[in-house]
Amino acid sequence: MFSEENIKRQAIHLKHLSKKYAIYDRPSQKLAELLTLRRKRWHREFWALKDISLEVSPGTTLGIVGQNGSGKSTLLQVVAGILTQTSGECSVEGKVSALLELGSGFSPEFTGRDNVFMNGAIMGLTHSQVEKRLEDILDFAEIGEFVDQPVKTYSSGMFMRLAFAVAIHVDPDILLVDEVLAVGDLVFQHRCTNRIRRLRQEGKTILFVTHDLQAITRFCDRAILLDHGQKLEDGDPEQVVQRYQALIAGREQKAGSGEVWTGAEQDQNLQVVSTIPHIHHRYGDGGAKVIGIILHSSEGEVLNEIRAGEEVHLVISVQFVRPLQNPIIGFTIRDHLGVEIAASNTSYEGLHLPPTNPEDVLTVGFQIQIPELRPDSYSISPAVANGNIWQHSIEDWIDNAYIVNLVDSGLVYGMMRWSVQASYRWEK
Ligand SMILES: Nc1ncnc2c1ncn2[C@@H]1O[C@H](COP(=O)(O)OP(=O)(O)O)[C@@H](O)[C@H]1O
Ligand SMILES: [Mg+2]
Repeated sequence: MFSEENIKRQAIHLKHLSKKYAIYDRPSQKLAELLTLRRKRWHREFWALKDISLEVSPGTTLGIVGQNGSGKSTLLQVVAGILTQTSGECSVEGKVSALLELGSGFSPEFTGRDNVFMNGAIMGLTHSQVEKRLEDILDFAEIGEFVDQPVKTYSSGMFMRLAFAVAIHVDPDILLVDEVLAVGDLVFQHRCTNRIRRLRQEGKTILFVTHDLQAITRFCDRAILLDHGQKLEDGDPEQVVQRYQALIAGREQKAGSGEVWTGAEQDQNLQVVSTIPHIHHRYGDGGAKVIGIILHSSEGEVLNEIRAGEEVHLVISVQFVRPLQNPIIGFTIRDHLGVEIAASNTSYEGLHLPPTNPEDVLTVGFQIQIPELRPDSYSISPAVANGNIWQHSIEDWIDNAYIVNLVDSGLVYGMMRWSVQASYRWEK
């Protein structure tokens, strides 16, 4: 049992904590439920965290690993106070600064400078305290003149850099970092990890979600493994990472058992593509190169405009420079503000690509049904990696290589259109 004293000395104290989400198969069900004043339930329950107990003492750097959907982000959001647990206890001692996946607490209409001051205020800093730090923050963020532009005009990289700069300069006792570092470019990632190392030396408590298992073993004093909302492992980072790798390997073996890769999966209709419309920013280890990307209709017509509901084919060709054991080819779609809308890759879609040799060319086709998104210009960034979804090296990544406009969607409020039914009654 935990005595009062004991609780006080923990930076973070979770006891039998569980978090339930209500899942609605259709958005209209939520409305239906509200309208019937919840007399009738339309939702299914989903436990994202199950009976988590965790004590983190001040100054600990805790790594959190687990497959996608295992509850990592939910856990950080509960600790950050953004979500409330369904049952159990959560107490957090100290000032929390969080760099989470979604929403950085920035207001898109305001300038970078305004946002820095607003975030500082939220973190309990006075105007002059923020002013003193402003130079450091801007130095770190490297957004130059853009500081006086509305945040909505920022690229995703700039946005990330400013968010990170603010998060580390507001004197947090506890820093929560969710995966976000993977968004920035490599140079920025390095600067962030250096900074996190420094914060660690300063004795801050850090909770750190990442798929970069090396970062876990290098940085962290301790790690936990989450799986289906449960804490499977807690302790020495090396051991936790090993257990995690064994878990993944076991699942991959199961998924792949009896299923040997054969040429049968090949699609003879796919043709190598060899143009890349835009190359502004490219990085990677160079074991392979994206050599072409194209979006075409079912009739084979090259598309610069798409419509909601339309079925399109995204084709990416990659040429290999080094032998790669487990190539993965994928893409990310962003809107014009750089907000990531969707992403996928061959591994995620269950398509095992063969091991490749230098000079080989692999062409991959993704068939996509365009959802009812807001009319906007969307960019597609192709990439090739080697490894598995959780641990891989990026061999080549081209930011915003293909731009396409979504037109004719009709009026869409927010990001996307969903299914809503409206009705009314008039009594006179
Ligand atoms: N707002 C939500 N409503 C319903 N289910 C959610 C919500 N947020 C997350 N989930 C589900 O909870 C599980 C854990 O999600 P998350 O904490 O984001 O996992 P991770 O960060 O480890 O990928 C997932 O299955 C996810 O689909
Ligand atoms: Mg997450």
